[in-house]
Amino acid sequence: MIKKAVIPAAGIGTRFLPATKAQPKEMLPIIDTPTIQYVVQEAVDSGIEDILIISGKGKRAIEDHFDRNFELEYMLENKNNGGVLNEIRRISDMANIHFIRQKEMKGLGDAIYHARLHTGDEPFAVLLGDTVIDSIIPVTQQLADIYNQYQQSILGVEVVPQEKVNRYGIVGGNNISDRIMEISNLVEKPTVKQAPSNLAIAGRYILTPEIYKALEQTKPGKNNELQLTDALKILLKRENIYSYTIEGKRYDIGSKIDYLKTIVEFGLKRKEFSKEFRAFLKERLSSKN
Ligand code: G1P
Repeated sequence: MIKKAVIPAAGIGTRFLPATKAQPKEMLPIIDTPTIQYVVQEAVDSGIEDILIISGKGKRAIEDHFDRNFELEYMLENKNNGGVLNEIRRISDMANIHFIRQKEMKGLGDAIYHARLHTGDEPFAVLLGDTVIDSIIPVTQQLADIYNQYQQSILGVEVVPQEKVNRYGIVGGNNISDRIMEISNLVEKPTVKQAPSNLAIAGRYILTPEIYKALEQTKPGKNNELQLTDALKILLKRENIYSYTIEGKRYDIGSKIDYLKTIVEFGLKRKEFSKEFRAFLKERLSSKN
C-alpha cells in the first residue's frame, strides 16, 4: 500500500515572472483553485494519508494555503457564507501535510532526496506540483495499483509528439501489455535522435526507497542539476522499473500556453458559467479582431 506522497514544489518559476516574483508558481490559480490544491486532491483521492511538500524560498503561501485561517473563517461565518467557509476549512483538513525546505535549487533529484527521512524504507508516490491530471481514476491510484502487482518503481508516462521529447524524461523498453512496459533506458530531455521512444514521464511516480542510494551516486546532469531521471537510470541496474501509460488528460502548468489552455478547458467544464464562456469564445473566434 502506498500511504506517503512527496510533492516537489521548490522551483523558481522563471517562466512565469513577474507573476512568480512574490508567489510560488504552484499557487497560480486555475480559475479559483491553486494548481497545487488539485495535486494534493489527487493524492488524497488515491488513498495517500501523508504528504511531504518540498518547498523553498518564497513558498510560504503554500504552507498558509493548507493551514487554518481563523480570521477568514470568522469573517465568512459572520457573512453567513457557509459554502465558501466549508471549502476553506476542508482545504486545511485534506491530509497530514508536512513541509521541508530545499535551500538550494539543485534539481528535482535533490528535491526528492530531501524526503528520505520522511519516507524511510517505504515506497512512496511523487506528484510534480506543476502538473494536473484530469482522470476518472486518480493517476496516483492507477500507479499504486500497478505497484501492488510488481512491487517495483512505476513511472506514469504518456505519448508526446516528436517535437516535444526534449521537454521531458523519455523512457524506452519492452512492452508487457498495452499500457505496461519494462523499462530498459531513460534519458532526460533528449534530442529526437537520442530519444529511446516518444513516451514521456508525466510527472507521476511510485518510487522504492532504493532511489535514495541511487540519488547519492547521481552526478549533476541536464542544466547542471541533479536529475531524478539519471538516478532512475542508476536504480535500473539494481531493480526493475516499469512504466504505465496513464489514463487521463495531463495539464502542464509549466508553460504559458499550456497554462492558458488549461484555464480555458477548466472554464468550459464549470457548470456555473460554461454556457456563457462557450458563447463568448465562439463570438471571439468568429469576429475578425
Ligand atoms: C521534470 C522531469 C522530467 C519529466 C517532467 C514532467 O522535468 O525531470 O523527466 O518528464 O518533469 O513534467 P521539468 O518539467 O521539471 O523540467
